[in-house]
Amino acid sequence: MVFLALPDTESADESQLRNYFQTTLDSCRHGTLALTDGISPTVLAQQSHPDFSPIGWHLGHIASTESLWILEHLAHQPCPFPSYRTLFAADGLPKAQRQMLPSLDELLAFLAEIRQRTLAYLDTAPLANQRRLWHWLVQHECQHNETISLVMALHQTQGQTTPLGTPVATHPQKMIPTGMVFVPGNSVYLGLETKGGDIALDNEQPAHWVTVAPYQIDRTPVTCEQYYQFMAAGGYQDRQWWCDAGWRWLQTANVNQPLYWPDQEVFAAFRHRPVCGVNWYEASAYARFVGKRLPTEAEWALAASGLSAKLSMLLQTEQINCNHRLGQTTTVGLNEYAVSDYGCYDLLGNVWEWTNSWFRPYPGFEAYPYRGYSAVYFDDCHRVLRGGSWATRSWALRPSFRNWYEPHVRELFMGFRCVR
Ligand code: AVJ
Ligand code: FE
Repeated sequence: MVFLALPDTESADESQLRNYFQTTLDSCRHGTLALTDGISPTVLAQQSHPDFSPIGWHLGHIASTESLWILEHLAHQPCPFPSYRTLFAADGLPKAQRQMLPSLDELLAFLAEIRQRTLAYLDTAPLANQRRLWHWLVQHECQHNETISLVMALHQTQGQTTPLGTPVATHPQKMIPTGMVFVPGNSVYLGLETKGGDIALDNEQPAHWVTVAPYQIDRTPVTCEQYYQFMAAGGYQDRQWWCDAGWRWLQTANVNQPLYWPDQEVFAAFRHRPVCGVNWYEASAYARFVGKRLPTEAEWALAASGLSAKLSMLLQTEQINCNHRLGQTTTVGLNEYAVSDYGCYDLLGNVWEWTNSWFRPYPGFEAYPYRGYSAVYFDDCHRVLRGGSWATRSWALRPSFRNWYEPHVRELFMGFRCVR
């Protein structure tokens, strides 16, 4: 994986930018193809969960999106594969009807053909005015990479594939940071301002200041060992910890542990790893059980102060568990340089963290590149997650990045930390 520092000043010239996008597109695609290398036809085309499309659909959708936004919108070339348009459009077919897919070879040929045309266009493209869309496209592929990873993990829980990534790693036993830190009330800058770098997604802008009252926040995400206390105390059977919607979800879902909960034989290796595969209901039930609550987006962002200034260094020196490098979660607190100014660990990478905030527009929001990207999800039915996971690609990993899912979703690599 080649992670180039972003040429983010107004002064970056076109050739620097061209070089950046050539390298970045290439490196990102390398990751996409590595994920699906050797995939079986069943795992490629089968829908493993009603909320998620088959992996093959994501491959076609990555190519189709690149064709639409680069070849059609920027290069004014006609769509080279018109018959794929509806099949791979986000608003084309219902997810259940996305299983009649081209073969892996055909999908790979589609990806390669579009990419070849994209790179040919990139050679002479007027990038100064287009950089926002190129950055968006890279991040689009990154996000579908992460969805592919979670669909792969679902197939694995259903016994259709061998385990993702490497076998369970053990980590050097060291001091595990525990407890909470106090964060004095302060103002925090919410969102991302890019000064010509234009990497911000529409929902991260306009960046603005908000004030936050003092609070305490967990130094690490809630670990399996901590969460086990809730399970052992009958938390999944005890109405008092659950909100009404959460209790309703629990009655139909009939679960009693997180989705990616470790088997007994490997539990010792997972003891200090973050809980992974819990929905917003489970996260808030646990928080209530320990007399805490989930952080707001602003509280999470304030606790992350100091990380954006060293983000590029942390990524380049591999001090964040991200980008599929390890193929799994790790013990919390291992990356001691990735600590925030307030002393919080694992805010970036490892697991996404649920916040208490609805996914809503920042004041003055403008949709980009289309309303369906963020705007249609401002429906007060989606909660914000922050921080990225072990499977998040570097180009979509930063403190200001807002992910969003409905509160019942537990399939992403998601955990949480609490505040009080
Ligand atoms: C932000 C991850 C919820 O996958 O639905 C991909 C990202 N948007 N293509 C999703 C996205 C359009 C989005 N999430
Ligand atoms: Fe998409």
